[in-house]
Amino acid sequence: MQICRDLPSLRAATAAFRAAGRRLAVVPTMGALHEGHLALIGAARAAGAGAVAASIFVNPLQFGPNEDLARYPRDEEGDLAKLRAAGCDLAWLPPVEVMYPPGNATVIEVAGPSAGWEGDARPGHFRGVATVCCKLFLQSQAELAAFGEKDWQQLQVVTRMAADLDIPIRILPVPTVREADGLAMSSRNRFLSPQERATAPLLHRAMTEAAAAIGAGAPVAATLEGALARLRGAGFAPDYLALVEAETMRPLAARREQGPMRLIAAARLGTVRLLDNIAV
Ligand code: PAF
Repeated sequence: MQICRDLPSLRAATAAFRAAGRRLAVVPTMGALHEGHLALIGAARAAGAGAVAASIFVNPLQFGPNEDLARYPRDEEGDLAKLRAAGCDLAWLPPVEVMYPPGNATVIEVAGPSAGWEGDARPGHFRGVATVCCKLFLQSQAELAAFGEKDWQQLQVVTRMAADLDIPIRILPVPTVREADGLAMSSRNRFLSPQERATAPLLHRAMTEAAAAIGAGAPVAATLEGALARLRGAGFAPDYLALVEAETMRPLAARREQGPMRLIAAARLGTVRLLDNIAV
């Protein structure tokens, strides 16, 4: 596995993949890798990538001033070992000054699916995500980019951005990888205390039951209120639990007869903010 930390070496490596006729996929990550990230590499290969480049970059632009940038888990050595074992071809580890050189003045602002939910809870977050993903796409010139469905709104924002900017890349959504008890894998789960870890799967359970009820015709508002009360009773502090149009992220007060819907949630458990979503 090649390791690149500057743009000339990244460009030389990706040009060599192209010259060899290997379709390149990029897997953007912030490190602290788990099975969910490694599944992105496998999915990219299964979708026809002949070479996979994973980026590890804790993107300061997507963290608010009071967020967990400083405590975001970092384990470069462990991550590189996992990428090697997963058959990754290239690790892209740009220092902050390579990604954002002094004097940089351009950001990508995506309206539409950035509005609401995480967009409200984390002002500026999607500007940071869209900017870094746009840069990663252009830097790698990959044909394919794999993103986990766990961050559903992020997936919609990045898909919209790539389409709107005519970036010739296919965004590949990859199903959420879960622990055996249903908890969606996340680099931040390590901060749950043992007691919180035991409570955490209730989020997915409550969502699964609410989605089934809504799918069967139960009223949306009452079903969501019931699920929220159950979560609060178990110690969660929910930010939102909502039914939305899957692509636009617009809220739905009632079940749609046509078009995909998603149940999305964010809830704090202790110091950890858990995100999850499922199809309805
Ligand atoms: O989902 C993440 O880990 C990040 O938001 C991403 C896509 C790597 C951009 O920094």
